[in-house]
Amino acid sequence: MLLEGKICMVTGATAGIGFVTARELARKGAAVVVVGRNPAKGERVVQEIRAITGNQRVEFERADLSKQADVRRLARDFADRYPQLDVLVNNVGAILATRQLSADGIEMTFALNHLSYFLLTNLLLPKLKAAPAGRIVNVASAAHRGAELDFDDLQCERRYSGWKAYQRSKLANLLFTYELASRLDGSTVTANALHPGFVASRFGLNNGPLFRLGMRIAFMVSAIPVEEGAQTSVYLASSPEVGGMTGRYFIKCKPAESSAASRDPEAARRLWEISEAMTAS
Ligand SMILES: NC(=O)c1ccc[n+]([C@@H]2O[C@H](COP(=O)([O-])OP(=O)(O)OC[C@H]3O[C@@H](n4cnc5c(N)ncnc54)[C@H](OP(=O)(O)O)[C@@H]3O)[C@@H](O)[C@H]2O)c1
Repeated sequence: MLLEGKICMVTGATAGIGFVTARELARKGAAVVVVGRNPAKGERVVQEIRAITGNQRVEFERADLSKQADVRRLARDFADRYPQLDVLVNNVGAILATRQLSADGIEMTFALNHLSYFLLTNLLLPKLKAAPAGRIVNVASAAHRGAELDFDDLQCERRYSGWKAYQRSKLANLLFTYELASRLDGSTVTANALHPGFVASRFGLNNGPLFRLGMRIAFMVSAIPVEEGAQTSVYLASSPEVGGMTGRYFIKCKPAESSAASRDPEAARRLWEISEAMTAS
């Protein structure tokens, strides 16, 4: 099997695109670490993936990825238990209609959608480098289009819009991916990002009734099923076609061009430095 002997981690894998990604990587023979915040749901998901794929090497790790202490514990536990990490899929993400703060006092969308990718990846880099050809797959979004980072108000303190905060976090995913790929130049580890499509998952359903209704209608009108939405993540995590390819953005398993704002190296460097400061222990 394609991923026999490989170890993969998928964040936000108890539902939606992350769940299907974890299941398909397990089906390809990988040992898979399913990361989520809800232990009961996590254990159910692990049993389901084991039953469907026949692969018993699927484990659950609990982490609320908006909390830096949980991200650190997750990375430590993983490092204690596994010799290497072949694939890290940073998939967790949410949109929040009202402004919330994480346990660390950081605007929640930025903390969860960007800082968790940044911190977890950096903590796991030694394990990714210990793999023969480590891959980092960042689930971004076409929603980054039209967004600019406001470095004077990264946490939307002045004016909050859930959509704007989400767009910026997805722009941050791309800036992070490109900067990471350039910092990893000369190593065996690759880093790519993707847009999964507009996917009928549980995305946005964490919000109030009006927002949920809007999402459900939008899903009915124009969304693709989660099976299809996970395809580019699975492709980037496993296909030999993209081995060695790095610093790219993919849609429907094909390289695509991201916005001009996402390809600004100065913004990427600045965001990296700020993220480093915001995650310093
Ligand atoms: N759906 C779309 O149309 C779409 C489009 C473009 C990009 N994306 C991106 O795709 C990724 C996956 O989204 P999805 O559509 O699959 O969303 P989803 O169905 O809402 O799934 C999100 C997953 O993340 C988990 N999660 C949420 N907050 C968490 C936290 N604090 N700690 C740990 N896990 C947490 C959820 O866990 P629970 O099961 O506990 O809720 C769930 O497993 C996101 O990065 C999103 O931005 C989605």
